[in-house]
Amino acid sequence: MVGAWVIMGDEREKTASKENLMRFNSVELVYFSPTGGTRRIVEWIGRALQKATPDGKPAVAHDLLSRPPAQDLVLSPDSLLVAGMPVYAGRIPPHCLPLLRRFKGRHSPALAVAVYGNRDYDDALLELRNALGGSGFVVTGAAAFVSRHSVFPRVAADRPDADDERVAEEFARRCAARLADMGALSRDLNVTVKGNTPYKELKPGGPRPDVDHTECIQCGACVDICPVNALSVSGPTDAAVVRDMNLCMGCAACIQVCPTGAQAWRGPQYEAMSAVFAEKCAARREPELFV
Ligand SMILES: Cc1cc2nc3c(=O)[nH]c(=O)nc-3n(C[C@H](O)[C@H](O)[C@H](O)COP(=O)(O)O)c2cc1C
Ligand code: SF4
Ligand code: SF4
Repeated sequence: MVGAWVIMGDEREKTASKENLMRFNSVELVYFSPTGGTRRIVEWIGRALQKATPDGKPAVAHDLLSRPPAQDLVLSPDSLLVAGMPVYAGRIPPHCLPLLRRFKGRHSPALAVAVYGNRDYDDALLELRNALGGSGFVVTGAAAFVSRHSVFPRVAADRPDADDERVAEEFARRCAARLADMGALSRDLNVTVKGNTPYKELKPGGPRPDVDHTECIQCGACVDICPVNALSVSGPTDAAVVRDMNLCMGCAACIQVCPTGAQAWRGPQYEAMSAVFAEKCAARREPELFV
């Protein structure tokens, strides 16, 4: 059978055997995004990919922060998964790995997207690619993007910006074109990315948000959003939000939802670190695409 194939956003047409070509019929997005940067970038990619599906149907989104999956989800070989993770200490957040493993591919294509705060992504993209590969996906494209640093928000304060959006769309276009050129997917089509094994060692510690109890109206929003249940209300009479420092991973989701600013980064030690980071990470870094 002979079919005509249009590569998205492009006037090029290609005539080829339909059976021999990889074509995705739907797009699924999965992301963990406590301060919203990863989500924005993955959504840009998803919107651009949507145009490459036969009926242009919108991507299905899986938000690992607000709706962690309760059971496994098996994707069909013609579903394209876009997995976006923030970079924590050069790795993907350990909390996310078991959640990500709930997504299973059947030689399904996937794109790996690591989003970092303008310092470096170290081994995170490689770790994400390998995690997806271990769950039955073939990672045909990968990218590292920059977003505002969620711990030191003066770093990359205006990212992602319009230029990043254009690169995200270009990434989607290239990935769709590469897939359209591919035959059946196999593990050896996994894209090569930057990073090393063994991965960067995880070290405990790092800044944690602080609660100003005079500002807290005990609305419970921070307790509800915390992905690791690190927050609780201390007692019925002297109700105050307390944080388990051993559980907290410093993701800043609680700061993001707090309506009064009670949850915030503060303290002299934090301010000193913030100043050092702002200087060290001032130079703009650009997205990197592996397609
Ligand atoms: C605990 C923690 C560790 C981080 N480590 C790094 C890092 O190693 N390199 C970096 O460039 N950014 C780092 N960041 C910044 C985030 O990767 C960046 O802000 C990302 O955009 C956050 O994604 P989100 O907006 O989807 O939450 C870290 C952030 C947190 C909370
Ligand atoms: S308490 Fe810690 S882990 Fe929980 S939302 Fe806040 S920063 Fe994230
Ligand atoms: S979100 Fe803010 S105001 Fe609401 S309980 Fe938490 S600290 Fe208090």
